[in-house]
Amino acid sequence: MPTFHIVTFGCQANEADSERMAGAFVAAGYQHATCPEEADVILLNTCSIREKAEQKVYSLLGRYQGLKRERPGLKIGLTGCLGQLEGAALTRRFPGLDLVVGTGQMLKVPGLLQERPLIPLTLRPTEPMPTYVGTPPPLRGSRVSAFVNIMEGCNYFCTFCVVPYTRGRERSRPVADVLAEVEDLLYRSYREVTLLGQTVNAYGKSLRPRTTFAALLRQVDALAGGDLRIRFTSPHPREVTPDLYAAMAECRGVCEHAHLPVQSGSDRVLTRMRRLYTRAEYVEVVRRLREAIPDVALSTDLIVGFPGETEEDHRATLDLLREVGYDSLFAFYYSPRPHTPAAEYPDQVLEPVKRQRLAEVFALQAAIALEKNRARIGRVEEVLVERGPSEKEGSLASGRTRQNKWVHFPADPLEIGAVIEAEITEAYSYYLKGKCHHGHM
Ligand code: SF4
Ligand code: F3S
Repeated sequence: MPTFHIVTFGCQANEADSERMAGAFVAAGYQHATCPEEADVILLNTCSIREKAEQKVYSLLGRYQGLKRERPGLKIGLTGCLGQLEGAALTRRFPGLDLVVGTGQMLKVPGLLQERPLIPLTLRPTEPMPTYVGTPPPLRGSRVSAFVNIMEGCNYFCTFCVVPYTRGRERSRPVADVLAEVEDLLYRSYREVTLLGQTVNAYGKSLRPRTTFAALLRQVDALAGGDLRIRFTSPHPREVTPDLYAAMAECRGVCEHAHLPVQSGSDRVLTRMRRLYTRAEYVEVVRRLREAIPDVALSTDLIVGFPGETEEDHRATLDLLREVGYDSLFAFYYSPRPHTPAAEYPDQVLEPVKRQRLAEVFALQAAIALEKNRARIGRVEEVLVERGPSEKEGSLASGRTRQNKWVHFPADPLEIGAVIEAEITEAYSYYLKGKCHHGHM
Protein backbone atom coordinates (compact mmCIF):
# COMPACT_ATOMS: atom_id res chain seq x y z
CA MET A 1 0.00 0.00 0.00
CA PRO A 2 1.46 3.46 -0.82
CA THR A 3 2.03 5.71 2.20
CA PHE A 4 1.67 9.43 2.85
CA HIS A 5 2.90 11.86 5.47
CA ILE A 6 1.65 15.41 6.07
CA VAL A 7 3.60 18.14 7.85
CA THR A 8 1.28 20.92 8.97
CA PHE A 9 2.26 24.52 9.63
CA GLY A 10 0.13 27.41 10.79
CA CYS A 11 -3.26 27.69 12.39
CA GLN A 12 -6.06 25.35 13.35
CA ALA A 13 -7.71 25.89 9.96
CA ASN A 14 -4.64 24.32 8.42
CA GLU A 15 -4.73 21.46 10.90
CA ALA A 16 -8.34 20.83 9.98
CA ASP A 17 -7.44 20.92 6.28
CA SER A 18 -4.64 18.42 6.85
CA GLU A 19 -7.05 16.08 8.57
CA ARG A 20 -9.39 16.27 5.58
CA MET A 21 -6.56 15.74 3.15
CA ALA A 22 -5.39 12.72 5.18
CA GLY A 23 -8.93 11.33 4.99
CA ALA A 24 -8.88 11.72 1.22
CA PHE A 25 -5.57 9.83 1.03
CA VAL A 26 -6.94 6.98 3.13
CA ALA A 27 -10.01 6.80 0.89
CA ALA A 28 -7.70 6.66 -2.13
CA GLY A 29 -5.97 3.57 -0.73
CA TYR A 30 -2.97 5.13 1.01
CA GLN A 31 -1.73 4.38 4.47
CA HIS A 32 -0.59 7.03 6.92
CA ALA A 33 3.17 7.04 7.62
CA THR A 34 4.20 8.47 10.97
CA CYS A 35 7.50 9.81 9.66
CA PRO A 36 8.48 11.38 6.32
CA GLU A 37 11.35 8.94 5.78
CA GLU A 38 8.84 6.11 5.43
CA ALA A 39 6.40 7.90 3.14
CA ASP A 40 5.92 7.60 -0.62
CA VAL A 41 4.22 10.98 -0.66
CA ILE A 42 5.22 13.89 1.59
CA LEU A 43 2.98 16.93 1.81
CA LEU A 44 3.75 20.24 3.40
CA ASN A 45 0.57 22.05 4.32
CA THR A 46 1.95 25.54 4.66
CA CYS A 47 1.41 28.90 6.34
CA SER A 48 2.34 32.41 5.21
CA ILE A 49 1.34 34.44 8.22
CA ARG A 50 4.94 35.37 9.06
CA GLU A 51 8.23 35.25 7.27
CA LYS A 52 9.54 32.76 9.81
CA ALA A 53 6.78 30.29 9.02
CA GLU A 54 7.74 30.47 5.35
CA GLN A 55 11.44 30.01 6.07
CA LYS A 56 10.66 26.85 8.00
CA VAL A 57 8.77 25.48 4.99
CA TYR A 58 11.61 26.30 2.61
CA SER A 59 14.25 24.64 4.74
CA LEU A 60 12.18 21.49 5.17
CA LEU A 61 11.44 21.44 1.48
CA GLY A 62 15.17 21.55 0.76
CA ARG A 63 15.67 18.59 3.06
CA TYR A 64 12.91 16.53 1.49
CA GLN A 65 14.21 17.27 -1.98
CA GLY A 66 17.43 15.65 -0.76
CA LEU A 67 15.50 12.47 0.12
CA LYS A 68 14.49 12.25 -3.51
CA ARG A 69 18.06 11.52 -4.56
CA GLU A 70 17.99 8.27 -2.61
CA ARG A 71 14.36 7.52 -3.44
CA PRO A 72 13.47 8.74 -6.91
CA GLY A 73 9.89 7.48 -6.58
CA LEU A 74 9.18 9.85 -3.69
CA LYS A 75 6.62 12.56 -4.42
CA ILE A 76 6.58 15.91 -2.68
CA GLY A 77 3.61 18.23 -2.62
CA LEU A 78 3.05 21.67 -1.14
CA THR A 79 -0.44 22.79 -0.17
CA GLY A 80 -2.09 25.59 1.78
CA CYS A 81 -1.49 29.31 2.14
CA LEU A 82 2.04 29.53 0.75
CA GLY A 83 0.99 27.45 -2.26
CA GLN A 84 -1.92 29.82 -2.82
CA LEU A 85 0.33 32.89 -2.69
CA GLU A 86 3.34 31.66 -4.60
CA GLY A 87 1.87 29.11 -7.02
CA ALA A 88 4.13 28.43 -10.00
CA ALA A 89 7.04 30.40 -8.55
CA LEU A 90 7.52 27.55 -6.09
CA THR A 91 7.84 24.86 -8.76
CA ARG A 92 10.53 26.96 -10.45
CA ARG A 93 12.42 27.49 -7.22
CA PHE A 94 12.11 23.87 -6.06
CA PRO A 95 12.34 21.54 -9.03
CA GLY A 96 11.79 18.58 -6.73
CA LEU A 97 8.21 19.68 -6.06
CA ASP A 98 5.66 17.46 -7.78
CA LEU A 99 2.62 19.43 -6.86
CA VAL A 100 1.59 22.88 -5.66
CA VAL A 101 -1.97 23.38 -4.50
CA GLY A 102 -3.52 26.40 -2.82
CA THR A 103 -6.16 26.51 -0.12
CA GLY A 104 -9.56 24.87 -0.43
CA GLN A 105 -8.28 22.11 -2.73
CA MET A 106 -7.20 19.53 -0.18
CA LEU A 107 -9.53 16.80 -1.28
CA LYS A 108 -8.20 16.89 -4.82
CA VAL A 109 -4.61 16.21 -3.85
CA PRO A 110 -4.51 12.38 -4.07
CA GLY A 111 -6.08 12.50 -7.53
CA LEU A 112 -3.80 15.30 -8.75
CA LEU A 113 -0.74 13.28 -7.83
CA GLN A 114 -1.63 10.86 -10.62
CA GLU A 115 -1.59 13.60 -13.24
CA ARG A 116 1.46 14.95 -15.02
CA PRO A 117 2.61 17.53 -15.88
CA LEU A 118 1.57 19.24 -12.70
CA ILE A 119 0.49 22.84 -12.91
CA PRO A 120 -0.18 24.70 -9.68
CA LEU A 121 -3.83 24.63 -8.70
CA THR A 122 -4.90 27.57 -6.63
CA LEU A 123 -8.18 28.80 -5.29
CA ARG A 124 -10.25 31.50 -6.92
CA PRO A 125 -10.79 33.88 -4.01
CA THR A 126 -14.57 33.79 -4.20
CA GLU A 127 -14.99 30.09 -4.84
CA PRO A 128 -17.78 28.79 -2.59
CA MET A 129 -16.73 26.85 0.43
CA PRO A 130 -16.83 23.10 -0.20
CA THR A 131 -19.82 21.45 1.42
CA TYR A 132 -17.96 18.24 2.26
CA VAL A 133 -21.20 16.33 1.76
CA GLY A 134 -20.33 12.82 0.61
CA THR A 135 -16.56 13.39 0.91
CA PRO A 136 -14.25 11.02 2.80
CA PRO A 137 -14.26 11.47 6.59
CA PRO A 138 -11.24 13.39 7.92
CA LEU A 139 -8.49 11.43 9.61
CA ARG A 140 -8.58 13.32 12.90
CA GLY A 141 -5.57 13.75 15.13
CA SER A 142 -7.61 13.46 18.33
CA ARG A 143 -10.43 11.15 19.24
CA VAL A 144 -11.70 13.53 21.91
CA SER A 145 -11.65 17.00 20.42
CA ALA A 146 -12.47 17.81 16.79
CA PHE A 147 -12.25 20.83 14.52
CA VAL A 148 -15.27 21.71 12.45
CA ASN A 149 -14.72 24.26 9.74
CA ILE A 150 -17.75 26.49 9.44
CA MET A 151 -16.51 29.37 7.33
CA GLU A 152 -13.50 30.29 5.24
CA GLY A 153 -11.79 33.47 4.23
CA CYS A 154 -12.00 37.03 5.39
CA ASN A 155 -13.33 40.36 4.11
CA TYR A 156 -11.46 42.58 6.55
CA PHE A 157 -8.08 43.18 4.93
CA CYS A 158 -6.23 44.33 8.02
CA THR A 159 -3.16 46.08 6.69
CA PHE A 160 -0.69 43.51 8.09
CA CYS A 161 -2.51 40.31 7.18
CA VAL A 162 -2.06 37.96 4.28
CA VAL A 163 -5.05 35.74 5.06
CA PRO A 164 -7.58 37.43 2.72
CA TYR A 165 -5.09 36.74 -0.08
CA THR A 166 -4.50 33.13 0.93
CA ARG A 167 -8.01 32.11 1.95
CA GLY A 168 -10.12 34.36 -0.22
CA ARG A 169 -13.35 36.12 0.68
CA GLU A 170 -15.63 35.24 3.54
CA ARG A 171 -17.97 32.35 2.78
CA SER A 172 -19.91 30.01 5.03
CA ARG A 173 -20.62 26.34 5.02
CA PRO A 174 -24.33 25.44 4.93
CA VAL A 175 -25.94 24.93 8.35
CA ALA A 176 -27.20 21.44 7.59
CA ASP A 177 -23.73 20.39 6.55
CA VAL A 178 -22.16 21.70 9.77
CA LEU A 179 -24.84 19.97 11.86
CA ALA A 180 -24.33 16.69 10.00
CA GLU A 181 -20.64 16.78 10.87
CA VAL A 182 -21.41 17.50 14.53
CA GLU A 183 -23.89 14.65 14.59
CA ASP A 184 -21.27 12.31 13.22
CA LEU A 185 -18.82 13.45 15.91
CA LEU A 186 -21.40 12.72 18.59
CA TYR A 187 -21.91 9.29 17.13
CA ARG A 188 -18.14 8.74 17.31
CA SER A 189 -18.17 9.80 20.99
CA TYR A 190 -16.21 13.02 20.56
CA ARG A 191 -16.44 15.29 23.59
CA GLU A 192 -15.47 18.66 22.18
CA VAL A 193 -15.81 20.60 18.95
CA THR A 194 -14.01 23.76 17.95
CA LEU A 195 -15.89 25.67 15.29
CA LEU A 196 -13.34 27.26 13.00
CA GLY A 197 -13.22 30.24 10.73
CA GLN A 198 -10.90 33.17 10.09
CA THR A 199 -13.65 35.50 11.31
CA VAL A 200 -15.82 32.76 12.76
CA ASN A 201 -18.57 35.01 14.10
CA ALA A 202 -19.17 36.49 10.65
CA TYR A 203 -20.71 33.10 9.88
CA GLY A 204 -23.95 32.98 7.96
CA LYS A 205 -23.97 36.30 6.13
CA SER A 206 -23.21 34.74 2.79
CA LEU A 207 -25.81 31.99 3.19
CA ARG A 208 -29.33 32.15 1.78
CA PRO A 209 -31.38 32.34 3.93
CA ARG A 210 -28.97 34.37 6.00
CA THR A 211 -28.23 33.17 9.47
CA THR A 212 -25.94 34.17 12.32
CA PHE A 213 -23.14 32.63 14.30
CA ALA A 214 -25.21 32.90 17.48
CA ALA A 215 -28.02 30.93 15.82
CA LEU A 216 -25.58 28.25 14.75
CA LEU A 217 -24.15 27.99 18.28
CA ARG A 218 -27.66 27.39 19.61
CA GLN A 219 -28.32 24.72 16.98
CA VAL A 220 -25.05 22.91 17.66
CA ASP A 221 -25.69 23.07 21.40
CA ALA A 222 -29.23 21.75 21.06
CA LEU A 223 -28.02 18.89 18.90
CA ALA A 224 -25.25 18.00 21.35
CA GLY A 225 -27.67 17.98 24.28
CA GLY A 226 -24.87 18.70 26.78
CA ASP A 227 -22.62 15.92 25.45
CA LEU A 228 -20.16 18.21 23.72
CA ARG A 229 -18.01 21.08 24.80
CA ILE A 230 -18.28 23.78 22.18
CA ARG A 231 -15.47 26.21 21.42
CA PHE A 232 -14.88 28.57 18.54
CA THR A 233 -12.06 30.56 17.05
CA SER A 234 -11.38 33.30 16.03
CA PRO A 235 -14.12 35.86 16.42
CA HIS A 236 -13.60 39.40 15.16
CA PRO A 237 -14.37 41.98 17.88
CA ARG A 238 -16.45 44.00 15.39
CA GLU A 239 -18.72 41.04 14.73
CA VAL A 240 -19.60 40.33 18.36
CA THR A 241 -23.32 40.96 18.79
CA PRO A 242 -25.57 41.14 21.87
CA ASP A 243 -27.15 37.92 20.63
CA LEU A 244 -23.75 36.22 20.73
CA TYR A 245 -23.26 37.11 24.40
CA ALA A 246 -26.74 35.74 25.03
CA ALA A 247 -26.10 32.52 23.10
CA MET A 248 -22.81 31.93 24.89
CA ALA A 249 -24.47 32.44 28.26
CA GLU A 250 -27.46 30.26 27.38
CA CYS A 251 -25.79 27.28 25.77
CA ARG A 252 -24.62 24.79 28.33
CA GLY A 253 -22.06 23.26 25.98
CA VAL A 254 -20.38 26.53 25.03
CA CYS A 255 -17.24 26.85 27.13
CA GLU A 256 -16.45 29.88 29.25
CA HIS A 257 -13.62 31.02 27.06
CA ALA A 258 -13.30 33.57 24.29
CA HIS A 259 -10.31 34.17 22.11
CA LEU A 260 -10.69 37.77 21.08
CA PRO A 261 -7.81 39.07 18.95
CA VAL A 262 -6.96 42.69 19.81
CA GLN A 263 -3.56 43.11 18.06
CA SER A 264 -2.69 46.43 19.77
CA GLY A 265 -3.72 48.58 22.71
CA SER A 266 -3.06 51.86 20.91
CA ASP A 267 -5.79 53.56 18.89
CA ARG A 268 -3.22 55.08 16.57
CA VAL A 269 -1.85 51.63 15.74
CA LEU A 270 -5.32 50.07 15.52
CA THR A 271 -6.25 52.66 12.91
CA ARG A 272 -3.12 52.00 10.89
CA MET A 273 -3.81 48.27 11.17
CA ARG A 274 -7.34 48.91 9.91
CA ARG A 275 -8.87 46.86 12.68
CA LEU A 276 -12.04 48.99 12.58
CA TYR A 277 -12.50 49.25 16.34
CA THR A 278 -11.03 51.51 18.98
CA ARG A 279 -9.49 50.35 22.19
CA ALA A 280 -12.53 51.60 24.09
CA GLU A 281 -14.89 49.66 21.82
CA TYR A 282 -12.85 46.52 22.32
CA VAL A 283 -12.81 46.95 26.09
CA GLU A 284 -16.58 47.38 25.99
CA VAL A 285 -16.92 44.02 24.19
CA VAL A 286 -14.84 42.48 26.97
CA ARG A 287 -16.97 44.13 29.64
CA ARG A 288 -20.20 42.87 28.15
CA LEU A 289 -18.77 39.41 27.67
CA ARG A 290 -17.81 39.29 31.34
CA GLU A 291 -21.19 40.61 32.33
CA ALA A 292 -22.93 37.82 30.38
CA ILE A 293 -20.50 35.04 31.32
CA PRO A 294 -18.94 35.96 34.67
CA ASP A 295 -16.29 33.24 34.71
CA VAL A 296 -15.20 33.71 31.09
CA ALA A 297 -11.49 33.28 30.36
CA LEU A 298 -10.01 35.53 27.73
CA SER A 299 -7.15 35.10 25.33
CA THR A 300 -5.91 37.28 22.52
CA ASP A 301 -3.50 37.80 19.65
CA LEU A 302 -1.01 40.66 19.63
CA ILE A 303 1.38 42.12 17.11
CA VAL A 304 4.19 44.19 18.56
CA GLY A 305 6.44 46.46 16.54
CA PHE A 306 3.85 47.26 13.87
CA PRO A 307 5.26 49.95 11.52
CA GLY A 308 5.21 53.33 13.25
CA GLU A 309 4.62 51.85 16.72
CA THR A 310 6.19 54.24 19.21
CA GLU A 311 7.26 53.53 22.74
CA GLU A 312 4.06 55.23 23.85
CA ASP A 313 1.93 52.95 21.65
CA HIS A 314 3.75 49.96 23.08
CA ARG A 315 3.05 51.20 26.63
CA ALA A 316 -0.61 51.45 25.67
CA THR A 317 -0.56 47.77 24.71
CA LEU A 318 1.07 46.79 28.01
CA ASP A 319 -1.53 48.88 29.77
CA LEU A 320 -4.32 47.10 27.90
CA LEU A 321 -2.94 43.74 29.03
CA ARG A 322 -3.21 44.94 32.63
CA GLU A 323 -6.63 46.42 32.08
CA VAL A 324 -8.19 43.34 30.46
CA GLY A 325 -6.22 40.69 32.36
CA TYR A 326 -5.97 37.98 29.74
CA ASP A 327 -5.63 34.39 30.75
CA SER A 328 -3.27 33.76 27.85
CA LEU A 329 -2.13 35.30 24.62
CA PHE A 330 -0.29 34.71 21.38
CA ALA A 331 2.10 37.51 20.57
CA PHE A 332 4.49 37.93 17.67
CA TYR A 333 6.51 40.76 16.37
CA TYR A 334 5.46 42.28 13.10
CA SER A 335 6.77 40.70 9.95
CA PRO A 336 6.10 42.34 6.55
CA ARG A 337 3.92 40.18 4.27
CA PRO A 338 3.64 40.32 0.48
CA HIS A 339 0.55 42.11 -0.95
CA THR A 340 -0.21 43.84 2.36
CA PRO A 341 -0.14 47.65 2.68
CA ALA A 342 1.78 47.68 5.97
CA ALA A 343 4.75 46.00 4.30
CA GLU A 344 5.17 49.25 2.33
CA TYR A 345 4.87 51.57 5.32
CA PRO A 346 8.09 53.59 5.55
CA ASP A 347 8.40 53.60 9.34
CA GLN A 348 9.31 49.95 9.99
CA VAL A 349 10.42 49.26 13.57
CA LEU A 350 13.94 47.96 14.02
CA GLU A 351 14.33 44.30 14.85
CA PRO A 352 16.06 44.72 18.26
CA VAL A 353 13.26 47.07 19.32
CA LYS A 354 10.62 44.58 18.20
CA ARG A 355 12.36 41.81 20.12
CA GLN A 356 12.62 43.93 23.26
CA ARG A 357 8.93 44.85 23.13
CA LEU A 358 7.89 41.26 22.59
CA ALA A 359 9.95 40.18 25.60
CA GLU A 360 8.20 42.84 27.69
CA VAL A 361 4.79 41.58 26.57
CA PHE A 362 5.65 38.01 27.49
CA ALA A 363 7.10 38.96 30.88
CA LEU A 364 4.05 41.01 31.81
CA GLN A 365 1.62 38.39 30.55
CA ALA A 366 3.39 35.60 32.48
CA ALA A 367 2.86 37.57 35.69
CA ILE A 368 -0.80 38.32 34.89
CA ALA A 369 -1.55 34.70 33.96
CA LEU A 370 0.15 33.42 37.09
CA GLU A 371 -1.99 35.65 39.25
CA LYS A 372 -5.17 34.55 37.44
CA ASN A 373 -4.23 30.90 37.68
CA ARG A 374 -3.36 31.18 41.37
CA ALA A 375 -6.87 32.39 42.03
CA ARG A 376 -8.09 28.98 40.87
CA ILE A 377 -6.18 27.00 43.51
CA GLY A 378 -8.59 25.07 45.68
CA ARG A 379 -11.37 25.18 43.12
CA VAL A 380 -12.86 22.07 41.60
CA GLU A 381 -12.86 22.27 37.82
CA GLU A 382 -14.45 20.18 35.12
CA VAL A 383 -11.60 18.67 33.11
CA LEU A 384 -11.83 16.80 29.84
CA VAL A 385 -9.05 14.19 29.82
CA GLU A 386 -7.19 14.49 26.53
CA ARG A 387 -3.84 12.82 27.12
CA GLY A 388 -2.75 9.85 29.17
CA PRO A 389 0.31 9.99 31.44
CA SER A 390 3.28 11.34 29.52
CA GLU A 391 6.92 11.42 30.49
CA LYS A 392 7.14 15.03 29.47
CA GLU A 393 4.56 15.94 32.09
CA GLY A 394 6.23 13.86 34.81
CA SER A 395 3.92 10.86 34.29
CA LEU A 396 0.86 13.01 34.70
CA ALA A 397 -2.25 12.88 32.56
CA SER A 398 -3.54 16.09 31.02
CA GLY A 399 -6.78 17.74 30.16
CA ARG A 400 -8.33 21.16 29.77
CA THR A 401 -10.78 23.04 31.94
CA ARG A 402 -13.77 24.75 30.39
CA GLN A 403 -11.71 27.95 30.51
CA ASN A 404 -9.22 26.24 28.21
CA LYS A 405 -6.50 25.88 30.82
CA TRP A 406 -4.32 22.79 30.80
CA VAL A 407 -4.34 20.79 34.01
CA HIS A 408 -1.85 18.01 34.71
CA PHE A 409 -2.85 15.48 37.32
CA PRO A 410 -1.89 12.01 38.56
CA ALA A 411 -3.69 9.49 36.43
CA ASP A 412 -5.90 7.05 38.13
CA PRO A 413 -6.70 4.56 35.47
CA LEU A 414 -8.39 7.26 33.49
CA GLU A 415 -9.95 7.03 30.13
CA ILE A 416 -9.04 9.54 27.49
CA GLY A 417 -12.24 11.40 26.78
CA ALA A 418 -13.54 11.16 30.36
CA VAL A 419 -14.84 14.32 31.96
CA ILE A 420 -13.60 14.46 35.54
CA GLU A 421 -13.59 16.84 38.43
CA ALA A 422 -10.13 17.97 39.42
CA GLU A 423 -9.19 20.05 42.40
CA ILE A 424 -6.58 22.62 41.44
CA THR A 425 -3.55 22.33 43.71
CA GLU A 426 -0.79 24.30 41.97
CA ALA A 427 -0.72 27.16 39.51
CA TYR A 428 1.86 28.28 36.98
CA SER A 429 1.72 30.86 34.19
CA TYR A 430 0.84 28.40 31.44
CA TYR A 431 -0.80 25.46 33.22
CA LEU A 432 -2.29 24.14 36.42
CA LYS A 433 -1.77 21.02 38.47
CA GLY A 434 -4.54 19.18 40.19
CA LYS A 435 -5.81 15.99 41.69
CA CYS A 436 -8.86 14.00 40.72
CA HIS A 437 -11.81 14.69 42.87
CA HIS A 438 -13.90 11.66 43.57
CA GLY A 439 -16.82 10.86 41.42
CA HIS A 440 -16.41 11.07 37.70
CA MET A 441 -18.92 13.28 35.97
FE1 SF4 B 1 -6.42 38.78 8.87
FE2 SF4 B 1 -7.74 40.86 9.82
FE3 SF4 B 1 -9.01 38.95 8.45
FE4 SF4 B 1 -8.11 38.42 10.89
S1 SF4 B 1 -9.69 39.94 10.39
S2 SF4 B 1 -7.90 37.11 9.07
S3 SF4 B 1 -6.22 39.62 10.97
S4 SF4 B 1 -7.48 40.35 7.65
FE1 F3S C 1 -1.17 30.60 8.24
FE2 F3S C 1 -2.98 30.40 6.40
FE3 F3S C 1 -3.62 29.91 8.88
S1 F3S C 1 -1.43 31.97 6.51
S2 F3S C 1 -2.24 31.20 10.05
S3 F3S C 1 -2.21 28.75 7.69
S4 F3S C 1 -4.91 30.88 7.37
